[in-house]
Amino acid sequence: MRKFFGMWRDKTIGRPFGHSDVSLKKGEKNMNQLVIKNLSKTYPNGVQALKNIDLTIGSGMFGLLGPNGAGKSTLMRTLATLQNADEGTAFLGDLNILKEKEKVREILGFLPQEFDFYPKVTAGDMLSHFAVLKGISKHSERKEIVNAMLDRVNLSEYKKKKLGSFSGGMKQRLGIAQALLGDPELLIVDEPTAGLDPKERHHFHNLLSEIGENMIVILSTHIVDDVSDLCSDMAIIDKGELLLTKNPLEAIEELNGNIRSKVIESNQLDEYKTKYNVISSRLYMGKRQIHIFSETDPGDNFKEIQPNLEDVYFSVIPEKDVD
Ligand SMILES: Nc1ncnc2c1ncn2[C@@H]1O[C@H](COP(=O)(O)OP(=O)(O)O)[C@@H](O)[C@H]1O
Ligand SMILES: [Mg+2]
Repeated sequence: MRKFFGMWRDKTIGRPFGHSDVSLKKGEKNMNQLVIKNLSKTYPNGVQALKNIDLTIGSGMFGLLGPNGAGKSTLMRTLATLQNADEGTAFLGDLNILKEKEKVREILGFLPQEFDFYPKVTAGDMLSHFAVLKGISKHSERKEIVNAMLDRVNLSEYKKKKLGSFSGGMKQRLGIAQALLGDPELLIVDEPTAGLDPKERHHFHNLLSEIGENMIVILSTHIVDDVSDLCSDMAIIDKGELLLTKNPLEAIEELNGNIRSKVIESNQLDEYKTKYNVISSRLYMGKRQIHIFSETDPGDNFKEIQPNLEDVYFSVIPEKDVD
């Protein structure tokens, strides 16, 4: 384990900018905070997907960042009442998420990682079907809501089109419309940008950024840019463990002065890895550009660079888990 690893293992939960509930009057509910304590899950095959997760999440967009297999979907499905944890608690205000499942479903919007629907169904019919499940039973009201939702995700003109003709980006936008039915207080979107091309991802980011500030939105992703673009707060998890939870800007600031870069020959990588804390490496015009973590100038033609969120991510995630 790298020397600086410990420094980044921050299990104290802080919402740095004024999201504490100290100002609440006695007896007043704070539905705007999701408090997860000591959440653990081991699957029957022995995989420990969540290890004592502690997280406090306030309103706005929260990024849950981690590589494949980190435990993101397990955590999200648990919060969405679709599977049980072995241990721990999760409360949204007074609402016991792990126990009061019916009540949770009334205030929850969920876009699962694998979201697909029968290709022969139209977008309008699909949303209408989900609206019935959300308890919007009056036909005229449902029609109005479906139209408003399609408009909100920019799919009005595709209302009568079958889902089989939809692109990945359009399906995800429809998935968001489905999740927003019934005005949820808690919106969970699991890897919504995986598989989207850069342009679709950009559109999707714009849509997510318009979603209400007054809602808790948890977005899981393995794409660092999703978090840099959208999230005011984040956590990084890997192998079921919470490695860091921080305001992204603060996390970047803490790395200031410690990230250095150099372009090396591709075959020199192993040599550099033995000498330095190489946190990331990528091909660069036929050579290799490496970033190292070093609090002091190591010489050797390394150049100090302005860190970004990717450096934060690679500082806490062992590189082999990301490659
Ligand atoms: N139903 C399951 N049964 C057994 N193992 C599972 C199951 N679902 C997920 N896992 C394992 O749990 C770990 C976390 O998976 P997951 O929560 O899907 O991570 P992520 O969404 O971050 O990719 C992985 O090692 C995965 O293989
Ligand atoms: Mg997943």
